[in-house]
Amino acid sequence: MKNHHVREVLFSSRQIGARVRKMVHDMAEGCRGEDLVMIGILRGSFIFLADLVRELYSQDIHPRIDFMTLESYGAGTESSGAVRIAKDVGMDVAGTDVLVVDDILDTGRTLTFARQHLRELGARSVRTCALLDKPARRVVPFEADYIGFTIEDRFVVGYGLDYDGRYRELPHIACVTFQE
Ligand code: IMP
Ligand code: MG
Repeated sequence: MKNHHVREVLFSSRQIGARVRKMVHDMAEGCRGEDLVMIGILRGSFIFLADLVRELYSQDIHPRIDFMTLESYGAGTESSGAVRIAKDVGMDVAGTDVLVVDDILDTGRTLTFARQHLRELGARSVRTCALLDKPARRVVPFEADYIGFTIEDRFVVGYGLDYDGRYRELPHIACVTFQE
């Protein structure tokens, strides 16, 4: 782990809460009448997914929930390139309407891989959702169906996002600054 500081708050927990409510409001109509399965990409999505589904409940939408663990990042902040399934979904998604949930859309490799994989498992539709989007970092062209906030090319932690396994528990999203 490099010498670093976690200081500047980019989005407060209140700002995140307001945005999540708005996102769910926008996605709710499209989800009605579907056999909705929400699949969180572990580990970064766990807090975001938990907030989304409780907000969906208030819109009277009751998805099934599962997770898959995908790995592309090693330790640190740079993607290794390849995406690997460390743990696949446990339920049969054939014929269902899947909404994949991730913390952040960065190079685009993870969500590209997840969408392709879930289509191969027979999902009827696959949509994608990420709380954060860093379009400047894209390597594979990819647009998510739902995005919370678009940000600059900064490394961020909190609300599920980690630096080397740490800071996922922060209720807000903060920037990490690195000393050389
Ligand atoms: P992608 O495959 O490059 O789009 O990467 C997505 C994954 O990279 C996310 O699920 C995160 O785990 C990780 N990631 C990308 N940017 C950040 C960041 O700024 N902070 C923490 N994790 C990040
Ligand atoms: Mg991560």
